[in-house]
Amino acid sequence: MSSEKTREWDHFTEKEMDYFERQYFEPYRSTIAFSEWLERKDCLNASKKAKVLDIGAGMGEATQFLAQRFSNANFTGLELSRHLVEKGNAALRSTERTNALLIEGDIFKLREKEFGPLDGIISMQTLSWLPEFKTPIEKMISLGPRWIALTSLFYDGPVNAKIEIQDLTSSTAERPYRESFYNVYSIPLVKELFFDHGYTDFHYDPFVIDIDLKKPSNGGMGTYTERLADEKRIQVSGPVLMSWYFILAKKKKN
Ligand SMILES: C[S@@+](CC[C@H](N)C(=O)[O-])C[C@H]1O[C@@H](n2cnc3c(N)ncnc32)[C@H](O)[C@@H]1O
Repeated sequence: MSSEKTREWDHFTEKEMDYFERQYFEPYRSTIAFSEWLERKDCLNASKKAKVLDIGAGMGEATQFLAQRFSNANFTGLELSRHLVEKGNAALRSTERTNALLIEGDIFKLREKEFGPLDGIISMQTLSWLPEFKTPIEKMISLGPRWIALTSLFYDGPVNAKIEIQDLTSSTAERPYRESFYNVYSIPLVKELFFDHGYTDFHYDPFVIDIDLKKPSNGGMGTYTERLADEKRIQVSGPVLMSWYFILAKKKKN
């Protein structure tokens, strides 16, 4: 599977740049909840030294939030888009954060143990936007981290959904719409893949948002919330139910 298939990730509209930039001022609820979850799961804390790779780091907006919270850990953000890497490193420099840096790279082209010993790999809001989960997870595993933690769209059952979106509220140089995946991966299948590679300590939890988000007025893609009869919120984007989960796979200790 080549990176060309990740589509549209090399040119960004104003709306997409806003997605990255505004998180520098206001971190997403999911990023805050994920950082708390990582701490509860004993992956990171404020005093722990750790070397962490963040795959699909965007402008490093979520990376810098974690770097601030876990200030003794060192974060490298791997990102496909050179534009985002340059903008993100400039933004990181302005925060004077010294424990986070972005580099340009493609998850599909990672080489075994490329980054030396790693404590952890995180990847936030990225896996579901790739063509499939198996190759990217195997690439993460090939780097040999002790643990891998992901936020993406998952389903707690034996069903895997490949979803291709064409959003007509946005266009690219080639098409009058914007294409992207919103894949929902089967948790039992993901768990089995990790098990097969020795990551047998597996945890997952749904992420339930605690604030209301408005539906985009143009009806295009963009996460908003609806309330169920029991007042619980669900997240929706265009025609897709956003079934967010946090997933953690740890190598069994020898
Ligand atoms: C939805 S954004 C998430 C950004 C950030 N992790 C966050 O939570 O805000 C997904 C990111 O993955 C990057 N990406 C897509 N395909 C990639 C690949 N093959 N290798 C590395 N990064 C990739 C995109 O350029 C984009 O910045």
